[in-house]
Amino acid sequence: MRILTGVQPSGKLHLGNYFSVIRKLVDYQNRSDLFCFVADLHALTSFSNRENQSNNTFDAVCDFLALGIDPDKCTFWVQSDLPEVTELSWYLSMSITVSQLQLAHSFKDKVAKGINPSGGLFIYPVLMAADILAFNSDKVPVGKDQKQHLEYARDIAEKFNAQYGETFKLPEPEIDEETAIVPGVDGAKMSKSYGNTINFFDDEKKLKKSVMGIVTDSAGIDDAKDPDKSIIYSIHSLFLDAKSRQQLREKFTTPGTGYGDLKKNLLNDILEYFAPQRKERERIANDPAYVIETMKKGAAKAKEVASHTLETVRDRLGIGIENRISSVRGAAGKNQ
Ligand code: ADP
Ligand code: TRP
Repeated sequence: MRILTGVQPSGKLHLGNYFSVIRKLVDYQNRSDLFCFVADLHALTSFSNRENQSNNTFDAVCDFLALGIDPDKCTFWVQSDLPEVTELSWYLSMSITVSQLQLAHSFKDKVAKGINPSGGLFIYPVLMAADILAFNSDKVPVGKDQKQHLEYARDIAEKFNAQYGETFKLPEPEIDEETAIVPGVDGAKMSKSYGNTINFFDDEKKLKKSVMGIVTDSAGIDDAKDPDKSIIYSIHSLFLDAKSRQQLREKFTTPGTGYGDLKKNLLNDILEYFAPQRKERERIANDPAYVIETMKKGAAKAKEVASHTLETVRDRLGIGIENRISSVRGAAGKNQ
């Protein structure tokens, strides 16, 4: 079973990214064929400057390694190090119409906000389809917001197969209902673009500020609190097993504990949970030579698979020197 996913390096990783996707990857690499990459080309759709683009990509690689992604157990690379995928995205763009792409939520949202979207944002789903189809992925773990992008990938694969002959497997999304939408400190979906994230690799001071900023109702220490309406509980429960969740629920429903203390408990659990990874992150970031070497090896490993797919696709389309030569020879043969 081949599992593939990508994460944009457009800022620090947050609990939404971690609990919906990243946590599972470490498990997958031990029991499946995991392909995982840093989607720096997709991040170009929100480019700010050269330094941020390259630093964010380096940081994302360090984050993944620190969180337990092991390049010996999976294939881990940076998207832009593999030009095969961008080439494939051009071929795939013939298998989708402009009117279909106009229906993409990510595109429509920008238009609704009055932003004049770039061509890159418009074809974002095609590049994502290429990411997935280049590696013949069976399953793609993502958050709920990516569901439509997976539908595009399937539609494109189906249409390509119908037009040019059976080539691609149809990938299945994997979306966990429990962690489909992790709330941010304001209760909306936790997202870099909403500025409501809790970034577990932030320094302790910043992390504390984020957790203490979680919005609550006005219940005081002496009031019972409803865990099911609390953002603190929704986030904290992600860290806990069934028994500890029950204990936390009791803390909410029994008067005597204020929101301040409930937030402090959450902060302590975040720090404790991520302590080994935070330490490892520091070590890795101080060894850029290792990070670069890992990226080079990862790209070479990914290339073996993607170039094989590309060969098949070029052959189906009659693209490339070898295919041109064989067609010309075929025609010459017929004329003799
Ligand atoms: P962001 O919305 O912060 O920009 P990304 O788009 O980089 O996050 O998301 C990376 C992965 O994490 C995607 O699979 C996405 O669906 C998932 N994800 C992001 N935010 C959340 C969230 N709040 N809850 C669940 N999954 C999320
Ligand atoms: N669009 C995804 C996101 O914003 C990132 C991504 C790019 C991706 N290519 C992918 C996810 C392929 C899964 C598979 O989160």
